[in-house]
Amino acid sequence: MKKVIIYVLMSFSLVGCSLDPSNAEKEQPEETPVSSQVSGDEVEKEEPASSVPQNDSEDESSEQSEQTNDDVVARDGTVTVNNPESLNVVVNKERKLPSNYIPEDLTVPDVPFSFSEFAPKKQMRKEAAQALEELFTAAQQDGLDLVAASGYRSYDRQKQIYDRNVDVYGKEETDKFSARPGTSEHQTGLAMDVTSAQMAFKLNQSFGKTDEGEWLAEHAHEYGFVIRYIKGSEDITGYTYEPWHLRYVGKQYSTDVYEQELTLEEFFGFHPVSE
Ligand code: DAL
Ligand code: ZN
Repeated sequence: MKKVIIYVLMSFSLVGCSLDPSNAEKEQPEETPVSSQVSGDEVEKEEPASSVPQNDSEDESSEQSEQTNDDVVARDGTVTVNNPESLNVVVNKERKLPSNYIPEDLTVPDVPFSFSEFAPKKQMRKEAAQALEELFTAAQQDGLDLVAASGYRSYDRQKQIYDRNVDVYGKEETDKFSARPGTSEHQTGLAMDVTSAQMAFKLNQSFGKTDEGEWLAEHAHEYGFVIRYIKGSEDITGYTYEPWHLRYVGKQYSTDVYEQELTLEEFFGFHPVSE
């Protein structure tokens, strides 16, 4: 097992955390906390739970950072994934993307958006964008009116969003619904938030009870997507229920995840966390 000792500087610089309102995009927040709502997102290829190699713990005495299974593990236990470009990369509060990771094949899917002008957040990775188009076509054929709202976000864009949310809602509340920079699936280019005209293009939990939300919960897997933050799994995913947040993993995994009613953490063997 390749182990590379690294030293992580515990320098959490606050410099540059404040937002210049003049630079802030004039748009509604990408995601909103439950309290403001109506009712309330390595190894080259990750495999499902049974075959995912778990972190070994040979070197328990070490307080130093280390790289295990080629993931870079910091002293605080957080991991920087080494396969950000994998279609089944698991990104969450403990599993970060490299801050400089930008997908190479971003493209704008040919689907309706809640705004007309180009913005980076219209983009997804090519395979995910094609799958989203298929999903939207199928929904339309079933008489539904889906609208895309927010896809790819850079590390810096996520930092702006997170910091703005902290300003408004405080850190504790923000951490329930907004990812810290480097930990958002949106940076992978594999996620898209979707909504509808009925929702006035907002992202809130009542979307799950609309025809569009119910259709997505039932059919998204057929096009390679999972509803990433499901109800009742907040302790596993780290986030409150988001019926609007689609994550592309490909049809085989999305179908398995759907049928087994699992989170990606459980499916890919990252929950429960091995000692
Ligand atoms: N709302 C999800 C967790 C994000 O900020 O990426
Ligand atoms: Zn989202």
